[in-house]
This record gives sequence, structure tokens and C-alpha cells, in this order.
Amino acid sequence: MKEQLEKIRQAAAQALDAVETGEALESVRVRFLGKKGELTAVLRGMGALTPEERPVVGQLANEARAYIEGKIEEKKAAVAAKEREAKLKSEVIDVTVPGRRKLAGRLHPLYQVLNEITAIFTGMGFSVAEGPDIETDYYNFEALNIPADHPARDTQDTFYINDNIILRTQTSPVQIRVMEQTKPPIRMIAPGRVFRSDAVDATHSPVFHQIEGLVIDKGITMADLKGTLEAVVKGLYGPDAKIRLRPHHFPFTEPSAEVDVSCFACGGKGCGMCKGEGWIEILGAGMVHPKVLKVGGIDPEVYSGFAFGLGLERIAMFKYGIDDLRLFFENDLRFLRQF
Ligand code: DAH
Repeated sequence: MKEQLEKIRQAAAQALDAVETGEALESVRVRFLGKKGELTAVLRGMGALTPEERPVVGQLANEARAYIEGKIEEKKAAVAAKEREAKLKSEVIDVTVPGRRKLAGRLHPLYQVLNEITAIFTGMGFSVAEGPDIETDYYNFEALNIPADHPARDTQDTFYINDNIILRTQTSPVQIRVMEQTKPPIRMIAPGRVFRSDAVDATHSPVFHQIEGLVIDKGITMADLKGTLEAVVKGLYGPDAKIRLRPHHFPFTEPSAEVDVSCFACGGKGCGMCKGEGWIEILGAGMVHPKVLKVGGIDPEVYSGFAFGLGLERIAMFKYGIDDLRLFFENDLRFLRQF
């Protein structure tokens, strides 16, 4: 029995030497000291010993137990230290690794320009209105004094959903919708997408953006139109910017004008940007036609107004010196990140 105890002691010492983890340590403890363990089995056999042998073997067995327990405690501390070290090592932060830059989103250049223009108008007391992209023939044409067979329909190649429903070719229908819902005085702009069945090239896209404007009150004149647009252009391009009105025709205004801004690249001398003209056309405008006021429920004998429609892409292109309209719609990040 003495020999047996010595063997157990050695076996335990050997097993403990090989232990690397807390789990392995626990299984060694169970193997030797557990209820069904090897040492416990020896102690159970003590009943067969003579009364003289019993205390001697008992003491040896206790010594063996104390020895193994001591070894296990030692090992436990060693394993814990090792595990802590491994954990710290795995959690180490290398402060010398270069940082990773966070990618911040930004507004599309068209919307940056739109926000700028909107701020100029709201600063002058304009409100912002919206209308649907999908319009009826009535709002897009009829109510704007463009009856069926009117030649102006040919210049706006329309996407038809059916005979009556179309994708709006201009933001002007919002004028009618606002007049129907609001009593004068009216001072509003209506930015939005418009659609025309044009082939895509550097200056044409089937989708583009306009900003419509409408002012109606008693005693509004062409001078108000000119003053307002001049203030907007100076706000957008600086105090030296000038405008010029050229006579034109739109069915929904009378008189009508096309409005040019002095070229901001050359200041009006003539350059590549303005094709030697010194002026760049940016919008159409005019005094709201009495027929249109009437359709909108406003008495043309009492009220008058002006309206305008400007092309957002054109303005953004000239502002940033962009020579191809397609860049706005391709969403190439190398382009967009420049703004
Ligand atoms: N709707 C016109 C177009 O798309 C632009 C326009 C011209 C709007 C004159 C107006 C205006 O409000 O008065 O070509």
C-alpha cells in the first residue's frame, strides 16, 4: 500500500507537470483527489489493514494528499498567471499603427448649389413649394396657356404615361398649384426634377432640375422682376455680376424675357467659358400672363406678378467650371469628392 501511495504521488506529479490550462488542472484534481479518484480508492481499502498498520498508512496517505494538493495550488497560480499574460498580449493596442480615416458623406454639388440659391430666396421672404414629378397634361401645359397643338409642346419632348398623365417637363405647373391654394401676396420658389425625352450628351439629360419662381401681389412690375433677379445673381456670383434681359416668348408670360448673367470667368470680356459672348443665359422669366392668373383663381385686374424658371445644372456647371452634364448623374466618387 505504501508503494501504491508512492506511485500515485509520482503519477500526480507527472500529470501536473504537463498541465497547461485551468481545465486540464481540474481534470487532474478529479483524477487523484475526486470521490472516485485514485487516492480516495486507496483510502477506502484501509479497512483491510491491521490496527497497527492503519495509523502508519493513514499518515502516509494524508501526506500524499497534502503533497498533491500543494502541487495543485502551485500549478493553479502558474496557470492563472500564464492565462492573464496571454490575454494581455492578445489585447495589446499598437499605438504606432497609422489611423484609418473616416469617410464622411457630403452633399451632391447640385444640392449644394440648390441650397445656396434657396437661402438667397428665403432671405428675401420667399417660401419653398413642391409639386409632383408625375403631372397631368392640364397642369404642365393647358393651365399654362399651352393648349394641344401649341408649338411649344414640340420643344419639350414629353414622356407620356398616358394621354393625360406625363412626367413634368418643367417646374412651371407648381405655379398653378400654388395659386390654387394660396391667396396673394405670393412669393415662392419651387425647385425640382423635370423630364424630357432628350438623348444624353454633354449638355442634355432626360432628367434635370429647375427652380421655378413666382411673385404675385398688387402693383408688381417688370422692375421688381429685374431687381429680384439682380439680387439673386449678385448673391450667387458676387457683387460685380450683372444681368441682361433679352426679349423672348413663353406662352405663360407676357412680356417674356431670357436672362443672361455676365460671364463670371471673364467678367464680360468674352472667353472660352461664354464662347466669346461675355454673357451666359441662365433663366427664362416674364410677367405672368393674365390668362394664367385667371386659371389660378387670381383676378388679373387686381393683381399682377412675375415668374421665372432657372436651370440648376447650367448654373452649377458655370459655377464650378464643369463642362459635361453627365458628371452630375454618373455618381463617380472621384468627381463628387471634389465638392
Ligand atoms: N418653364 C420654362 C422652361 O422650362 C422656363 C420658364 C420661363 C419658367 C419663363 C417661367 C417663366 O416661370 O416665366 O423652359
